[in-house]
Amino acid sequence: MKILITAGPTREPIDPVRFLTNRSSGKMGYTLAGAFIHEGHSVLLVSGPTHLAVPENVDFIPVETAAEMHEVVSHHIGRMDIAVFAAAVADYTPAKVANQKMKKSGDSLTLELVRTADILGAARQKFDFLGTLVGFAAETENLEENARDKLSRKACDLIIANDVSKPEIGFDSDSNEVLLVYPDRSELLPTASKHEISLQLVDEIIRLHATRSRSS
Ligand code: CTP
Repeated sequence: MKILITAGPTREPIDPVRFLTNRSSGKMGYTLAGAFIHEGHSVLLVSGPTHLAVPENVDFIPVETAAEMHEVVSHHIGRMDIAVFAAAVADYTPAKVANQKMKKSGDSLTLELVRTADILGAARQKFDFLGTLVGFAAETENLEENARDKLSRKACDLIIANDVSKPEIGFDSDSNEVLLVYPDRSELLPTASKHEISLQLVDEIIRLHATRSRSS
């Protein structure tokens, strides 16, 4: 199978020396990329800046901003069988990027932010992607309800949801506990290393893809 994976945070510039970002380490996406390769699939990893080594044999396109990630995904998604959106894409970006380093003045500063493009949301609606579509949901409350809402709004086949309010799992941690949310059911994968979880996810996603292909 040909698999596209987005991973990592994005970096939204404010001026030449500052940017907005988030706490995503990229570990989940990179570990998944390695696990798909291990199972004999081909992977294109589109990633924001991380400290991680790119797994061997993975095709890799580094990006910085949400807009760059959107552009790269729009180019490549058409030839993919499966797309997995693990990136923690910024939802907002500065309305203007200063050409020079901003100097401080006054006691407060208001930064105007504008929405970024929703890349996962564009997969079906704009890019006309027909393959198996998997998204992630990082939530601090109402995990299943919020994930199920994302599943239907973004026309995904599966949302992998995790509760990032639990410090021992998610973001920078090496372990994770995820709730798999499908249109017709949910299933909990109990806490395990991100490596172990990613092996289970690869099995689930490949099985899901096979089921979808049989019924279409
Ligand atoms: N995502 C994306 N592009 C964006 C924002 C999010 O591709 N600009 C993808 C993420 O990679 C993830 C999924 O969408 O797979 C969930 O992201 P999230 O920001 O939680 O979804 P939202 O619908 O924006 O929900 P919220 O209201 O919680 O911000």
